[in-house]
Amino acid sequence: MDAILQDLFSLTGRVALITGGNKGLGKAMALGFARAGGEIALAGRNPEELKQTAEEIQSLTKKPVSIFLADMGNREEVNRLGQEVLKKMGKVDILINNAGVNIPQAIDQIVDDSWDLVLEVNLSACMALCRAVVPTMKQNRWGRIIHISSIFGFVSKEKRNAYSATKSALIGLTHASALDLADFGITVNCLAPGPFLTDMPGKILSAQEKAEFARTTAMNRWANPEELVGPALMLASEAGSYITGQVLVVDGGYLCR
Ligand SMILES: NC(=O)c1ccc[n+]([C@@H]2O[C@H](COP(=O)([O-])OP(=O)(O)OC[C@H]3O[C@@H](n4cnc5c(N)ncnc54)[C@H](OP(=O)(O)O)[C@@H]3O)[C@@H](O)[C@H]2O)c1
Repeated sequence: MDAILQDLFSLTGRVALITGGNKGLGKAMALGFARAGGEIALAGRNPEELKQTAEEIQSLTKKPVSIFLADMGNREEVNRLGQEVLKKMGKVDILINNAGVNIPQAIDQIVDDSWDLVLEVNLSACMALCRAVVPTMKQNRWGRIIHISSIFGFVSKEKRNAYSATKSALIGLTHASALDLADFGITVNCLAPGPFLTDMPGKILSAQEKAEFARTTAMNRWANPEELVGPALMLASEAGSYITGQVLVVDGGYLCR
């Protein structure tokens, strides 16, 4: 690959804040972004796992990784997180709103606390972090905001009421804030993953449901977390400079059916 093309996908000089960075898709994107030259701010609520992930990324990439603790279900902690990251890193160029939770409940059995938690983590925390980092992005006239939505922002499954509601809402948030921020060199997009092999589906799906998910994709398989890195890097780098307000579906053809 020549230097011009390499520059297109380089994150050298960019600071990326990734929530839910200790594991799963967040960890894969953090490692990929560090490999692309980015400085990584990893946020999570489990200090041991965060530290371990940061050390793993550092040893593989020789890039320093900073860790930040916050419960994304607590608005005060999320507001504080934004300020702490800006203070320590000096700026946030790329925000990946990745932390997410799924508490399956049928519509007539929803418990208020579960509903509120899913809305807070999957949606309101994403808004609060955007609100925190956008002023610096505006000053720098460059920014990339990527929300991790889901194929369940388009379709759904039994008992995914709160989850689907938030993943669809992220798409609406993406459209509105892309319009707010386009004049400032800031793009806002969503990734909508299909079935990826991480803890989240591992915890809530039966073996039969997992096989059904694979069959529903055109590719007849689950994805590995690393398969989200390329799409995320395109949106986060210069390569995605003219893409805003979009949802990039990365689902092995799940939504084709
Ligand atoms: N895997 C899939 O098939 C799939 C498909 C579509 C969309 N997604 C989305 O992708 C994103 C990442 O999920 P994943 O698949 O990588 O699952 P995962 O491995 O379970 O990761 C979820 C991440 O969110 C964090 N998180 C959850 N609640 C939190 C809270 N209150 N405070 C701070 N962090 C919290 C988790 O932290 P802890 O480790 O501390 O719990 C973890 O880091 C989520 O938004 C999910 O909805 C996943």
